Amino acid sequence: MKHPIVIAIDGTSASGKSTNAKLVAKALGFVHVDTGAMYRTLAWHCLQQQVNTEDPKAVAAVCRRWKTSLANVDGLVHLLVDGKDPGLELRTSEVSAATSHIAVVPKVRDWMKQKQRECIQFGSLVMEGRDIGTNVFPETDYKFYLDAHIEERTRRRAAEGVNENLAARDQRDSQRAAAPLMIALGAKVINNSTMTSAETSGLILAEVCRRRDASERAGQRGVVR
Ligand code: DC
Repeated sequence: MKHPIVIAIDGTSASGKSTNAKLVAKALGFVHVDTGAMYRTLAWHCLQQQVNTEDPKAVAAVCRRWKTSLANVDGLVHLLVDGKDPGLELRTSEVSAATSHIAVVPKVRDWMKQKQRECIQFGSLVMEGRDIGTNVFPETDYKFYLDAHIEERTRRRAAEGVNENLAARDQRDSQRAAAPLMIALGAKVINNSTMTSAETSGLILAEVCRRRDASERAGQRGVVR
């Protein structure tokens, strides 16, 4: 693929976004961006700095002053704070809960959108999140929306040792005013309740090839897309 392209994978919590984004990125040699980890990094930093994550003004102020950089480490983008990668500290239940609060702040979403678009400096991307196809890279032709039955998603989280109320999290993600979770126009919707990750990622890869071929054929015919 000559120009960098972005494959946007959005969807509900525990719908397999991370697993499949990783598999698709590996198969294509693209760089993987986990935007949830970027939101978690801000929540983690606020907790470190003892900033109240339920105070939108205080959180927006952190966004204006924190010192961050993006790094491509073995094909996965990391958001570093003062040169540090928080690593597994991003996965605690305290950080998960704080992330839900900071992710609704419009100034935070603006900051994240800009940083996420900067990731194109690393080349073609597989970017996963909640608003990638609708808000961050709405211009991409490669949009996917993953979902699975709530029972199956709860089972997957429990298998990772995490018990959380996914229905409540989905509701918060879908009902917030700023960039809510929704199916992007033109997205291929995949319900993978009864599918393996090999099947889901295979379906994504086949659809990417189909859309790329259609786009190249349209280009040869001089169709402006
Ligand atoms: O995918 P995750 O569980 O790591 O996401 C953590 C939180 O961040 C979750 O509450 C949804 C939110 N999020 C978001 O609002 N927009 C994104 N693009 C990615 C994550």
